[in-house]
Amino acid sequence: MKQNLIFVVILLVTLSMVNAIPYYQLDKRATTFGPCPEGSLPILTVTLQPDPPVPGQNCTVTATGTIDSGINPGATLVAVALDGAHNVISSLASVDICSSGVTCPTTSLSVTTTFPVDASLPATYSISIVVIDENKAFVGCSYGAITG
Ligand SMILES: *[C@@H]1O[C@H](CO)[C@@H](O)[C@H](O)[C@H]1NC(C)=O
Repeated sequence: MKQNLIFVVILLVTLSMVNAIPYYQLDKRATTFGPCPEGSLPILTVTLQPDPPVPGQNCTVTATGTIDSGINPGATLVAVALDGAHNVISSLASVDICSSGVTCPTTSLSVTTTFPVDASLPATYSISIVVIDENKAFVGCSYGAITG
């Protein structure tokens, strides 16, 4: 009887540990990037490291995609944080694409950059990653919601 009780306790502890793993991963889920709310610009594939970003620490963003209209010298990749009303609350990064390892002109974008994350960002905000061509036109965009 006593041994049965010990067995049950061990079983329960084991089960609770197994359960804790998926909950932990769920809590740390990756940010999903999709099309920007405005317009129908080409979508970029975006990954963040760490994901979600930690305010006050550095974050590395990688953006890849195909920009059919072309990337030429002067094109930039910009990352901004937006509030719920889509107002810019923080400029995160701005990269000169053609001097960041991309051979221009090209249609194939692949940029990795590290930026400090504003320590005063709220728990919930969005990140927009935008490609701006040499004529200041938006030619690519992705948008992801960060939820604490
Ligand atoms: C962020 O990166 C910069 C440049 O590599 C480094 O000087 C700085 O210490 C880093 N900050 C943090 C909080 O890790």
